[in-house]
Amino acid sequence: MGEELNDPFSSETDNPIDDHLIHDVSFVEVEHPPNDITDTDAKSRRLFDIPHSLPTKQGLARIVTVTNQKGGVGKTTSVINIATHLAMRGARVLVVDCDAQGNCASGLGIDKSKTKITTKDVILTPSISIQARHATAVEGLHLIVGDHNLVGVEESLSAQLGRERRLVEALAILRPHYDLILIDTAPSMSIVSVNALTASDGVLIPVQTEYLALEGVALLMGTIQEVRRILNHSLGVDAVIMTMHSPTLLNTQVAGHLRETFGDLVLEPPIRRNIRLAESPSQGVPIQFHAPQSHGGQDYSLLSSELEALWFPGGLKNE
Ligand SMILES: Nc1ncnc2c1ncn2[C@@H]1O[C@H](COP(=O)(O)OP(=O)(O)OP(=O)(O)O)[C@@H](O)[C@H]1O
Ligand SMILES: [Mg+2]
Repeated sequence: MGEELNDPFSSETDNPIDDHLIHDVSFVEVEHPPNDITDTDAKSRRLFDIPHSLPTKQGLARIVTVTNQKGGVGKTTSVINIATHLAMRGARVLVVDCDAQGNCASGLGIDKSKTKITTKDVILTPSISIQARHATAVEGLHLIVGDHNLVGVEESLSAQLGRERRLVEALAILRPHYDLILIDTAPSMSIVSVNALTASDGVLIPVQTEYLALEGVALLMGTIQEVRRILNHSLGVDAVIMTMHSPTLLNTQVAGHLRETFGDLVLEPPIRRNIRLAESPSQGVPIQFHAPQSHGGQDYSLLSSELEALWFPGGLKNE
């Protein structure tokens, strides 16, 4: 006769399956719960292995992905306003919206319902990238529009070889004609985001100076390392931007921890929380056109100057 089968749902304690379970958990009361964010962030600090990026290749645009899997941290706002500032400084700038929400279009005054060729088409057919660009209200700033169709790209690409390198191919055509290509991403790590990282020289990470600011950043660093190892050996972190900053004790503490964690990679100043920044997209213009003297306008202007120095140490040389 064979052995009697154990019922996995049986409450008998001699069931070998139960050996893996913890029977006598005793909760140890913590006398001083670590309510100070220092502990969390110090732990994260040890976990991070941050690859630094390399300088821009001569004669080619610097390609930078703005990313953070956390939603609503100011990725799109940063893309729009940094791109605008640098275009106003004379750089030739292309924004590629890799987010299905497609918010770059409205922020730059473009009606995305009227656009025919979008980022989705560019990823599926990279050679089309030249025809996908739209002029914006800002001279020297072009946009490839993202829209809801990006959601289906994952499925369309699933059977394709080299599906992570579609944007590399698409941007290779455009790269000699721009100084900067800024890619906005969705708050998730999809094949589209991986395409963006694979095509990039650097990553810009907006982080809100709030509690749990670093949540997900360890994961992002892991993704960057993976992309670096398998798809793009020269990918690195360009900078961390502190966003939606208020002069509260908590925000100030978090800003301090971010500086400790990321060191020189943290750019100054933090972007202050400012209603003018939230208003601008509804006007279809960047902050530099809507309220350049507002706190938001001033902060993005100073921050963009820092990025200009970082990306173009020899200055912007236009034809
Ligand atoms: N410094 C700021 N002060 C006030 N409001 C801001 C600031 N930065 C961004 N916002 C507003 O916060 C909201 C989220 O910003 P944004 O869309 O740039 O974030 P996101 O990271 O791109 O979001 P998602 O992850 O959904 O793509 C928007 O309504 C934006 O106008
Ligand atoms: Mg966004």
